[in-house]
Amino acid sequence: MFKRTHTCGQLTAGHVGQTVTLNGWVNAYRGHGHGLVFVDLRDREGVTQVVFEQGGTPDAVVEAGGKLRNEDCVAVRGVVRQREKANPKIHTGAIEVVVESMEVLSKTARLPFVPSDETNLPDEETRLKFRYLDLRRPRMQEIMRTRHRVAKITRDYFDAHGFLEVETPMLCRSTPEGARDFLVPSRLQEGMWYALPQSPQLFKQILMIAGADRYLQIVKCFRDEDPRFDRQAEFTQIDLEMAFADRETVLKTMEGFAKTLWKDVLGVTLPDFPRMTYREAMDRFGIDRPDTRYGLELVDISDMAAQTEFGVFTGALEKPRGVVKAIRIPGAAEKLTRKVLDGYSAFVQQFGAGGVPFARFVNGAFEGGVAKFLGPIADTLVERLDLTDGDVVVFGADAYGVCTKALGELRQKVAKDLGMIPEGAWNFLWVYDFPMFEHDAETGRYYSLHHPFTAPTAAETERFLAADPADIDTVESIVSDGYDMICNGSEIGGGSIRIHRQEVQKKVFSLLGLTEEQAKTKFSFLLEALSYGAPPHGGIAFGLDRLVMHMTGTENIREVIAFPKTMTGQDLMCEAPNVVDEDQLKELHVRSTADTAVTAS
Ligand code: AMO
Repeated sequence: MFKRTHTCGQLTAGHVGQTVTLNGWVNAYRGHGHGLVFVDLRDREGVTQVVFEQGGTPDAVVEAGGKLRNEDCVAVRGVVRQREKANPKIHTGAIEVVVESMEVLSKTARLPFVPSDETNLPDEETRLKFRYLDLRRPRMQEIMRTRHRVAKITRDYFDAHGFLEVETPMLCRSTPEGARDFLVPSRLQEGMWYALPQSPQLFKQILMIAGADRYLQIVKCFRDEDPRFDRQAEFTQIDLEMAFADRETVLKTMEGFAKTLWKDVLGVTLPDFPRMTYREAMDRFGIDRPDTRYGLELVDISDMAAQTEFGVFTGALEKPRGVVKAIRIPGAAEKLTRKVLDGYSAFVQQFGAGGVPFARFVNGAFEGGVAKFLGPIADTLVERLDLTDGDVVVFGADAYGVCTKALGELRQKVAKDLGMIPEGAWNFLWVYDFPMFEHDAETGRYYSLHHPFTAPTAAETERFLAADPADIDTVESIVSDGYDMICNGSEIGGGSIRIHRQEVQKKVFSLLGLTEEQAKTKFSFLLEALSYGAPPHGGIAFGLDRLVMHMTGTENIREVIAFPKTMTGQDLMCEAPNVVDEDQLKELHVRSTADTAVTAS
């Protein structure tokens, strides 16, 4: 094979006159007759125009050049010359290579699609089936490159801050991260199962107890949950843990990391991240990962609503923790037609709300919707919401949880529908002071808002240890030392200061409904390790895929993963999952109950 001397993205006017060899794929070809063929040759680094022309190129090579088709893989050797008309759009646009000899390295079969034709891409299924062709596209190459850079900068940054990369097992015991486990049967231990890690949470804590001091791992995690636009069952975390570190140290270190990434990859200088308590986020934005790139804040008007005779308002206020909240949508009086607003009512119903009462503020007065009920509070409402002519007000009236959830979701939808999200804005923030537990009335159980290894804040520890499980209000009021990093309304990282005292960990397990016996069986190694001089520690995990989604402006997580799974959990290229031999199952001591699960062999 002709050994390449340059990449297809490298040659400029400075190389004119040199004999070079390029390897790559045919990105496009144009035959002009009379022994003249132009081919754009592409590799990872770019595209170079190569020319087969009578006079400069031997006849047989011109003829072979004329037979090239998209995605044939070739090596060409030739002389660099100045182009008659430069193409300023590409780095190699000043030159072309006049081919002297060529070796066809590999012809391509009939293509299911042409990767270089971005305007004519097939459906995602075809792209995933022929992923090797899809990944040849410059856009996908750019994403892979960004992903590589993020991984490299991550390792460099944390190395410089004293972190050690330590690998933790893929075959382990299930850790309660809240999702379903992927299970692997053991051949050697009949009837026993490994779980693939939902995260290396317990291992990294054990590493702190083991004196590793600062830990980093870029690691695969597995959660058997339904995929979403930003969620895959198999995804990658940048997982971090620090011993002898308080919350401030962890937040500063991690904020420094995010700033370094954005600076080095995107050239963007991020300001210091604001911090917001969970309570404030829920009150003002109805969500614990607020998108602060736009307004549309939730404003509590319960005090005013009580003065109206509107049954929806007064009825809501009679519910336990009932509230009435309003959102001002600036200048939307004409855009938000009755039909659109009816659509919003249907939208919020999926979150348990009854509908979206609304009113327009036009010519200094309320009209439409529920305007007729607003008379007694009109002036105070205008003042509190800072209304101006042409605004629309939408209301939520329900128990606090339902009202904030519905308005929080509606707020995001309205912002998208009305194009209120500024392009190119980067709004980072920390959300902290989460409640440690939520009580679910249906199951009568407590659930951890982060995970069960999250510590209460130092100020809350004694109150937590003294809390009576029957006293739901007190238990729900305990504040944990957890924190999430939010970027443009998406949770890109979550972590906490951990419990390092055995009695605190035992109390968490008992509140979660584990008997002492169950806690011992499931977590004896952790409880035991905590008794051997465990240092205070804390950490975080970032979603690497989500970081790359943000940095590449991608809205589908499958675009940033080289070989992703579909929404139904399949790898369409290698056709996983798939049936296995009966013998394999036997060896694993497993019998399937599904009809299709085993091959006949
Ligand atoms: P958590 O469950 O919050 O915390 O996960 C950390 C971050 O990982 C990303 N993430 C995901 N990305 C893609 N697909 C998924 N299914 C998915 N699930 C989570 C998110 C999230 O912020 N062990 C703790 C971390 C800790 O406490 O240090 C944990 O796993 O960006």
